[in-house]
Amino acid sequence: MKAVVIRTFGAPEGLEVVDLPVPAPGPGQVRITTEAIGVGGVDAVIRRATIGGLGLKEGHLLGSEAAGTVDAVGEGVDASWVGRRVWAFTGLTGAYAERAVAAVEDVLPLPEGLTATDAVTLGSSGVVAHFALDRARPAPGESVLVRGAAGSIGLSTVQLAAGRGAGAVAVTTSSAERGERLRDLGATHVLDRSGEGGADAPEGFDVVIDVVGGPGLPGIVDRLNPNGRYVIVGVVAGQPPADFGTRLLDGFRKSLTFATLSLDTVPNADRQKVRAAQFADAARGELRTVVHDVLPLVDAAKAHRAMDEGTVFGRIVLVP
Ligand SMILES: NC(=O)c1ccc[n+]([C@@H]2O[C@H](COP(=O)([O-])OP(=O)(O)OC[C@H]3O[C@@H](n4cnc5c(N)ncnc54)[C@H](OP(=O)(O)O)[C@@H]3O)[C@@H](O)[C@H]2O)c1
Repeated sequence: MKAVVIRTFGAPEGLEVVDLPVPAPGPGQVRITTEAIGVGGVDAVIRRATIGGLGLKEGHLLGSEAAGTVDAVGEGVDASWVGRRVWAFTGLTGAYAERAVAAVEDVLPLPEGLTATDAVTLGSSGVVAHFALDRARPAPGESVLVRGAAGSIGLSTVQLAAGRGAGAVAVTTSSAERGERLRDLGATHVLDRSGEGGADAPEGFDVVIDVVGGPGLPGIVDRLNPNGRYVIVGVVAGQPPADFGTRLLDGFRKSLTFATLSLDTVPNADRQKVRAAQFADAARGELRTVVHDVLPLVDAAKAHRAMDEGTVFGRIVLVP
C-alpha cells in the first residue's frame, strides 16, 4: 500500500512516499481502507521533532487520524464492524496510508450526513477545544482569547466559546481576511499575532486558550485579568521561554491559573462521547468544519510546506 513516512526529521522534504505491506489488525484492532486523512499541526510538530521523548525513528508512518471503511477486524473485535464507515484515531501507529489500523475503542461510526473529510477535520481538534474550555470554565459574559485561532483547534474553540455565552471572543491571527472569516464563526475582536490591535478589544482576558506557545507567551500571560485562567493546548511556535513562570509569579496578586491540557489525560470514553456529540452537531450544520484543501496522499510534503509557510486556514485533508 502507498504510505508516507518521515525519512528525515525536520523539513517537509524529509517526508517520503513508500510502499508498505498492508497491516493486519492486531487483537482489539480494526483496519480501515482510508478515504480521508487529517493533516494536523501536531503532524508538523512531530515531523520537526519539536516534541521530545516520543522515541520515534526514521521511517515513522506519520498521521494520527483517518476516516474510511472498516475492512478487517482483529481477534476479539465484533465482525459487524466490517463495512461500517468510521473515524479512527490511530495515534502513533500512523494514518498517512491507504490502510490504517486503530484500537476499536478509538473508532467512531460516522453519522448520516457527515463526510469523511469533515470527520478528520473535527475529530481530534474539536475535543481538544471542548476539554480546554472545560478546564478554563468561562462563565457567561467572561472574555476569552483564542491564540492561534486559524488552526483546526482554534476554529472549533471560537465556535464553542461563542456557544457557551462568552462576553467577548477575541482571536489572534495573521491577516484581516482571516479575521473576517473568524468573525463569521463567532469571533468578536480580531488581534494580530502579538495580541495587539482589535478596535475596542478588552485589555485583559478572563480566559486564554493558546495553541501557539513560543516566545510570545509571557506577553499574553500579562494580559490575564484577576482570577484569569490560561490553558495551553499546543506549541506551534515552539516552547515558551523557560522563565515564563516568573511572569505568573509577578502576577501573584491576580491569583492566576496556568494549565496544560493534553487529551492523553482525558478518559477515552469521555472523548468519544464528546466527539460523537460534535459529529452529530456538524452533521446538522451546527458546528462548522473548515477545510483548507484536499490533496492526494502523495502530496503530503506539499501539505506540510503549506503549514510551514503559514498559508493554511483550517485543515488540509489527504485522500489516497
Ligand atoms: N492538547 C492536545 O491534546 C493536542 C491534541 C492535538 C494537537 N495538539 C497540538 O495542537 C497544535 C496544532 O493545532 P492546530 O492544528 O489547530 O494548529 P495550527 O493550524 O498548526 O496553527 C494554528 C495557527 O497558529 C498561528 N501561528 C502559527 N505559527 C505562529 C507563530 N509563530 N506565532 C503566532 N501564531 C502562529 C497560525 O495562524 P495565523 O497565521 O492566522 O496567525 C496557525 O494557523 C500542535 O502544537 C499540537 O501538538 C494538542
